[in-house]
Amino acid sequence: MMNEDYYSHLVKKLEQQRDLTDEEFTAILTCADEKTMDFLQQRARAVREKNYGRDVYIRGLIEFTNYCRNNCYYCGIRRGNERAQRYRLTEEEILACCEQGRELGFRTFVLQGGEDAYFTDERLAALIRAIKKRCPDSAVTLSIGERERDSYARLFAAGAERFLLRHETANQAHYECLHPAEMSYSHRMQCLQDLRATGYQVGCGMMVGSPGQTIAHLLQDLRFLQAFQPEMVGIGPFIPQHDTPLAGYPAGTVAMTTKLLAIIRLLLPQVLLPATTALGTIDPEGREKGLLAGANVLMPNLSPTAVRQKYTLYDHKICTGEEAAEHIRSLAQRVSSTGYQIVKKRGDHLSFTERSN
Ligand code: 5AD
Repeated sequence: MMNEDYYSHLVKKLEQQRDLTDEEFTAILTCADEKTMDFLQQRARAVREKNYGRDVYIRGLIEFTNYCRNNCYYCGIRRGNERAQRYRLTEEEILACCEQGRELGFRTFVLQGGEDAYFTDERLAALIRAIKKRCPDSAVTLSIGERERDSYARLFAAGAERFLLRHETANQAHYECLHPAEMSYSHRMQCLQDLRATGYQVGCGMMVGSPGQTIAHLLQDLRFLQAFQPEMVGIGPFIPQHDTPLAGYPAGTVAMTTKLLAIIRLLLPQVLLPATTALGTIDPEGREKGLLAGANVLMPNLSPTAVRQKYTLYDHKICTGEEAAEHIRSLAQRVSSTGYQIVKKRGDHLSFTERSN
């Protein structure tokens, strides 16, 4: 057990953007000392405030299809889950979500879905153009999985400016424990490179506490984030879904998720970092805890209420409380209790804001 001075030295070193050795990262990742964790989060907040002030950006999440060709062992919408009730929103339904969202103050829409062959490049490009036409002041983020480079380029040309594709784990053997052999770690990594080369603001991220995850894997995740320098990082606890092969495994914890949020904030000071729905699902105050650990983004659900229960990536996923876009006012109150405030802005990564000015 190291002493407190050693840990605060590590936190300061992180904050000063000095590289930590593997041993030092491991020490922080395994540390459970309360004072150290408080100090880590306090420095993470300071760095977040230096870069983004007290603003919290909101993203309207539109879960537009739960058809998926993939069979990830952890995910409730995997193709092998015959109990999933499949749905697909029409273009008009999606546009209605955006218009409603715009009224509520959203200036970013995240189109998230399974890897659904119905949504060809042509259909998606038309949809993106239609959103941009109706909401020209809003950003469009895609979260639609692995595609080929020319496809990413067509969707970017249609107006999408951001893309979320979690890497899930930066350790190949661990990746192979979470996914069937038909999926490949190298293709996922290739996709992230292609997205970056296309010009998107790119988000990656991992599940925290996924089955088989070790501290060494998390260290590899942090090394990957350092090397890739994503504009966004989405992390949330793994939560078992009862109709998946990983149903019997325990969920990730709030403590490990908030610790990682704070480390990531110090590692990538300007990163856009959401306090995710999964964090809000395992703890009723999860999102506030995430904001207090350095997160600066929330992603309320804008999907039509009738389909929300069907987008069940994991069990007990919250979707009708304060995470629901229509309850944005009560969410705003909760956020202000943390000292932060929801703003009506696109909330681009600082490097992209500078580019467009
Ligand atoms: N628990 C937590 N997160 C999950 N995701 C999928 N299934 C689960 C689960 N059981 C996450 C994955 C994916 C994102 C859309 O949702 O990280 O990239």
